[in-house]
Amino acid sequence: MTRYSRIIGTGGYLPEEVRTNEQISQTVDTSDSWIYERTGIKSRRIAGPDETASSMAEIAARQAIDAAQIAPEEIDLIIVATGTPDRVYPSTGCLLQQRLGIKNCVAFDVQAACSGSIFALSIADQYIKTGAAKKVLVVGSEICSRVVDWTDRGTCILFGDGAGAILLSVSEEAGILSTHIHSDGEYEDLLYCPNPQAATDANKHEPGYISMRGNEVFKVAVNTLGRIVDETLAANDMQQSDVNWLVPHQANTRIIAATAKKLKMSMDHVILTLENQGNTSSASVLLALNEGVRDGRIQRGQVVLLEAFGAGFTWGSALIKY
Ligand code: ACO
Repeated sequence: MTRYSRIIGTGGYLPEEVRTNEQISQTVDTSDSWIYERTGIKSRRIAGPDETASSMAEIAARQAIDAAQIAPEEIDLIIVATGTPDRVYPSTGCLLQQRLGIKNCVAFDVQAACSGSIFALSIADQYIKTGAAKKVLVVGSEICSRVVDWTDRGTCILFGDGAGAILLSVSEEAGILSTHIHSDGEYEDLLYCPNPQAATDANKHEPGYISMRGNEVFKVAVNTLGRIVDETLAANDMQQSDVNWLVPHQANTRIIAATAKKLKMSMDHVILTLENQGNTSSASVLLALNEGVRDGRIQRGQVVLLEAFGAGFTWGSALIKY
C-alpha cells in the first residue's frame, strides 16, 4: 500500500486586538499608503498580555481536531513550528501536548523562521509515509509582536500574531504529493532575531528584536520562490496549469504576485490573508490554508501549492492533493 498524508482537519486562531497602519503611523514615520502599497498590509492582530504561542496553538489545534472528528488521544505526533516559543524549554510542542491532555504521543518544535510550517509539514509527511506515525498534528504559532522593535519602521509594519493548525492522517488516497525544504545559513546577517539570554560578551547588548535588510531579503525571496515552483512541478511531472490554488507565506503581496506569475496563475487563485493579518511567520501558511478550506474555495481533489521563505535563509514547498 502507498501511504499518503491526508489533511483531515484545519484550524486557526487570531488574537482580538487589531493594530492598523494608521495606529503605527502615529508612533513611527510611516503612512497607511506607504505600508499598503509596498506590502499589501492594512492591519495585523496583536496577542494579549496573557497569550502565548502555546495558548494560541491550543485554540487552533482544537479547531483542527474538531474538524477532523477524532479524539486527541489518537494523535501520535505533535510538531509545533515557532520562533517565539513560550520558553526555551520545554518545547512549545510539549506545552501544547500538556494543554491537550495527551499522554502517549511525541511532541517537539521546529524552528525555521517563516518557513517553519512547511518544514514541520515535511517532517510529518516523512513520519506518516514510513509508517512511524498515523495521525500528526502540525501547528505554527507566533507572537511576533514581542520580538518586533516598535520604533523600527522597516520591520514593525510587517509582522502580526496568530496560530494555524493542520491534522494529517495516514491514507491510501493522495494527500501530500511531495515536500521540498532547503536552507542556506550564509544569509544570517540579512535577517535575524538575537537571543539576548544566550549572547556572547561581544553582542550581549543587542536587543532581542528582529533585524532585517528588507530590500535584500526581498530580492532573494522572489528568485528562490521562483526556483522552488519549478522544482516542485518537475518532481511531480506537472504543469503550472495543474495547480488550482497557491497558498503562500504571507510576507509581501509583491513577493506573492511574483510567485503567482511564475505559475501563470491569476491572483484569484491565491489565498491572501496578509491584508488583515500581516506576516505571522510560521503561522501564516497554515492560517491561509485554513481560511481557504473553511470558506469553501479549496475543494477536495484540487491541487494546492504551499510555499514559504524565511530567515536562515530557509525555504520550502508542499504540493498537496486536497
Ligand atoms: N514607511 C516609510 N518609509 C519606509 C518604511 C516605512 N515603514 N520602511 C522603510 N522606508 C524607507 C526606507 O528608509 C527607504 O528610504 P530611503 O530611500 O530614503 O533610504 C525607502 O523607504 C525604501 O526602502 P526599502 O527597504 O528599499 O523598501 P522596500 O520597497 O524594499 O520595502 C519591505 C521594504 C516592505 C520591508 C520589503 O523589502 C520586504 O517586504 N522585504 C521582504 C520581507 C520578507 O519577505 N522577509 C522574509 C520573511 S520574514 C522571517 O523569516 C522572519
